[in-house]
Amino acid sequence: MAKYTPEKYIWLDGKLVPWNDATVHVLTHTLHYGVGVFEGVRAYEQPTGGGVFRLPEHIDRLLMSARMCLIDSPYSRDQLIQACVETLRENGLRGAYLRPLMFLGDGAMGLGATEMAVRIAISTYVWGTYLGEDGVRSGIRAKVSSFARASQQSSLLKAKICGQYVNSVLAKREVVRGGYDEAILLDSTGQVAEASGENIFAVIRGHLLTPPLSGAILDGITRDSVLTLARDLGIPADERPLSRDQLYMADEVFLTGTAAEITPVREIDDRRIGSGRPGPITQKLQATFHDVVRGRLPQYQHWITPV
Ligand SMILES: Cc1ncc(COP(=O)(O)O)c(C=O)c1O
Repeated sequence: MAKYTPEKYIWLDGKLVPWNDATVHVLTHTLHYGVGVFEGVRAYEQPTGGGVFRLPEHIDRLLMSARMCLIDSPYSRDQLIQACVETLRENGLRGAYLRPLMFLGDGAMGLGATEMAVRIAISTYVWGTYLGEDGVRSGIRAKVSSFARASQQSSLLKAKICGQYVNSVLAKREVVRGGYDEAILLDSTGQVAEASGENIFAVIRGHLLTPPLSGAILDGITRDSVLTLARDLGIPADERPLSRDQLYMADEVFLTGTAAEITPVREIDDRRIGSGRPGPITQKLQATFHDVVRGRLPQYQHWITPV
């Protein structure tokens, strides 16, 4: 599900503008060199209206990504949180995807240019299940990519930097052309890193395992939520390096991300994972996550920002 339908407004540089007026000049610096940062956030229909899942954490990551790229945000954390809520509200959206993007404008070119304005756009739109309804229900087919995750010596993988996603797009396109649903990337040492736009988990003999944050991975907010839910549900969970063959041998594998939510993996490199169907731990976490994001479990209400 990649297509979106235009909504009424996009928040651009401090105000809501009509959707089709949210345009930029072709000499926009980020368009050429990829130095910009972004977020993917989801809002869900709640019993009492709309609610955004872990919005402050997403805005904190956006601002941290900007700081890592030496970009000074023209707006504060509170202003950006408010802007996301306002954009959803004015578009009349309850369940939606939010895409805040902080980018460098036009007016100066060259890699060393610093004179460009720092601009921010917040788009909100309805976006369905990223890896397909069937994928969420029955599991997807993944393939280990021939592209490795960039080394931490050459990139800042904890930052969600626009240009960094060339690596993910190359990996994703390669495996989709080969008939698979998603790419799993190894790091430069051959350990499992993450999928093209998701973190990865394996269940091995009842233990939930995921690569540690010191690895070549994004500090995923869904990853963090799943680790919290697992611990609260009494499922033993550890952050530990994983090898490719450990994935093949796992009883269950699933991916986590704001777009993909919790998506089971039923096959990797044509090898069936476990029974070839979503396993009990994956299903338990999926069902709990489904209720948490929709505000049905009061103990996780602090993760929801009302719209
Ligand atoms: C490379 C990468 N890894 C992991 C994730 C999952 O992060 P989150 O759960 O915060 O959406 C994403 C999505 O943002 C991503 O792009």
